Amino acid sequence: MGLTAQDLQKMWSECYIENFIPEMLGILEHVESLDPLKTIVEIGTGLGGSARVWEAVLPPGEGMIIGVDKMGDIVERWTGKVEAYTTCSPCRVGNWEVEWEKGPIVKFKSDRQVYLVKGDSSSPETAEIVRGILDGRQADFLFHDGAHWFQTACWDYELFQDMLRTQGLLCVADIGGLTEDPMSGCQAVYYALPEPKSPKVRNHNQGMGIWYKQEDFVFDAQETIDRFQVVGTDDELQARRVAIGLPNQHEQDRLAELERQRNK
Ligand SMILES: C[S@@+](CC[C@H](N)C(=O)[O-])C[C@H]1O[C@@H](n2cnc3c(N)ncnc32)[C@H](O)[C@@H]1O
Repeated sequence: MGLTAQDLQKMWSECYIENFIPEMLGILEHVESLDPLKTIVEIGTGLGGSARVWEAVLPPGEGMIIGVDKMGDIVERWTGKVEAYTTCSPCRVGNWEVEWEKGPIVKFKSDRQVYLVKGDSSSPETAEIVRGILDGRQADFLFHDGAHWFQTACWDYELFQDMLRTQGLLCVADIGGLTEDPMSGCQAVYYALPEPKSPKVRNHNQGMGIWYKQEDFVFDAQETIDRFQVVGTDDELQARRVAIGLPNQHEQDRLAELERQRNK
């Protein structure tokens, strides 16, 4: 049996997870069905709470998680030495212990192989460091929960796509609805991917984009940025959304709000 809401609640109380439990369960339905499931890469780790979830679903020994985060005090966050800037309670800290730290790479104590790479995920140097740790392996699951800006989210996926195996799972967090951004980079990545894909919107105002990597599709960051990024008035943004076949933002917000109310 997979992880339950009670398991996640316990993890959350010991190591703060920034995503809500129902949406983590929604992602887990996909993650726990992956075969094989040995390697996970997470872009944007927060305090290491979601990494605790990934640790729990991986096999001891060969199971490997590599997180990437650029926050200056990210190791202090993972190890509970600083609190997150959030109003959530009761726990806003991480509970990891460092095994060793070499330059931008930190290894944490675990019976799985847990690494954190300190760096900007949208820079080729950071991607190269992750590739080095993978050492020929490919990820079965790539979780994008980092920056939402156009340039960052798009370059993140362009740089990391070859590290995800064919039929591996990509989950892009916060793909739409109730966002101040008319179109975020996360939405752009998600909408640029070919069908089939199934967005998960569960008890959260944005939604998680789910997609299984297709062998013959290569994501092009610059092309996606040029196609989706719009700078203009609200009306111009809406017109552009319609022209490129995206849902009307207001309608998307309304549906997301309905979903949120239903799940309350
Ligand atoms: C929403 S939090 C991640 C939450 C975490 N996955 C969880 O579920 O607990 C987003 C994280 O992305 C990181 N981030 C933002 N921009 C980034 C970038 N360009 N490179 C790497 N990390 C980035 C932030 O420092 C932050 O810790």
